[in-house]
Amino acid sequence: MSYKRTLVTCALPYANGPVHIGHLAGAYIPGDIYVRYLRMRGEDVLFICGSDEHGVPITIKARQQGVTPQDIVDKYHKVMKDAFTGLGINYDIYSRTSSQVHEKNAAEFFRKLYDQEDFITQESEQLYDEEAKMFLTDRLIEGTCPKCGNPHAYGDQCEKCGSTLSPEELLDPKSKLSGSTPVKKKTKHWYLPLDKYEPWLRDWILEQHKEWKTNVYGQCKSWLDGGLQPRAVTRDLDWGVPVPVDGAEGKVLYVWFDAPIGYISNTKELLPESWEKWWKDPETRLVHFIGKDNIVFHCIVFPSMLKAYGDYILPDNVPSNEFLNLEGDKISTSRNWAVWVNEYEAEFPGCEDVMRYVLTANAPETKDNDFTWKDFQSRNNSELLAVFGNFVNRAVVLTHKYFDGAVPQNLKPQPIDQETLEALKPCREAPTSARP
Ligand code: 2FM
Ligand code: ZN
Repeated sequence: MSYKRTLVTCALPYANGPVHIGHLAGAYIPGDIYVRYLRMRGEDVLFICGSDEHGVPITIKARQQGVTPQDIVDKYHKVMKDAFTGLGINYDIYSRTSSQVHEKNAAEFFRKLYDQEDFITQESEQLYDEEAKMFLTDRLIEGTCPKCGNPHAYGDQCEKCGSTLSPEELLDPKSKLSGSTPVKKKTKHWYLPLDKYEPWLRDWILEQHKEWKTNVYGQCKSWLDGGLQPRAVTRDLDWGVPVPVDGAEGKVLYVWFDAPIGYISNTKELLPESWEKWWKDPETRLVHFIGKDNIVFHCIVFPSMLKAYGDYILPDNVPSNEFLNLEGDKISTSRNWAVWVNEYEAEFPGCEDVMRYVLTANAPETKDNDFTWKDFQSRNNSELLAVFGNFVNRAVVLTHKYFDGAVPQNLKPQPIDQETLEALKPCREAPTSARP
């Protein structure tokens, strides 16, 4: 299949903190390199990103800081947008999922699936905080572990003894929001029956996309082999895109339902007249660059949504890297163990390409890799300065010395030059995928 144009997206980062080097290595630098390459080849390419501004963690952060969720996302949207620009990553648009275009677009998407009866509904009892007036996710419930007595076990897991738990098993459960004892309350939600899409997904991914990266393909296979379940696409929350149907008051779209639609909304915002050619013409090639914790959503959930909707193209590839660790330890936002891109840019002005180089040379393409400042220093000093810098310096100095500072036209090539040029020819002519 030949394509006329390529639509490249990078995962929309959550606007609840700045971007760190793990994000860069996982999705953003690879996406940017690919786009620069396509642009250099003169191909028709569109590069889309933006902030993912919904979800429970943003509401929690706002509550902790005594501000509104909007304050939080306004702050981090700007921090992230500036950090990307500072790093030379030039999206055609970097918008946000709190935009009006997105709210309308995501609601319309849900509504179409609802009208087509693609969803099922289920009622269940969930724990509710009567003081905070909120249903509680598992991580928002703390109590005593029934297995080891740890008083700070979460609703889904005890970190002390490693047991997997459910909130009902905790002794003396408390809401982490208000400290009150949660009560059970009935609630209804809309589910996308992923099980229905399983046979199609098996064929589409496992048969038709064997070329996807091994880590991506492997994760998809293990999800599919484990059997897919219906997945809730709505939440009881007051922050997000309101569910646009009767009987859904106080409910919003689940953040993982609305966020990928954000790719479409942002394209629509940028190109209100011509966005459809990027999303609906089979001659467009769609490529999602993501981090490995996003694989299931981009390879299984979002494609099922697009398929259900009907008119959309599907991703042709979903490249994802593994994780980058920092000085031998997992990068962690909550433990503040990270190199934050905005701080790096402030402390190393003008050295953005050094970080891009180090993260590319040390990219966690097939396995988790480690970033260390020692390695950063030595790559800068020996690879960039000594090797590359010296090469450029010599070429420039000698061009000045022997050719008056102008690249000479008549090189009088020697046999070795001829041989090199001959050897390069087939590389140039070969299809991109077959190049050495
Ligand atoms: O992992 C994350 O940061 C998510 N906010 C990525 C969302 S990607 C897409 F669906 F928008
Ligand atoms: Zn325990």
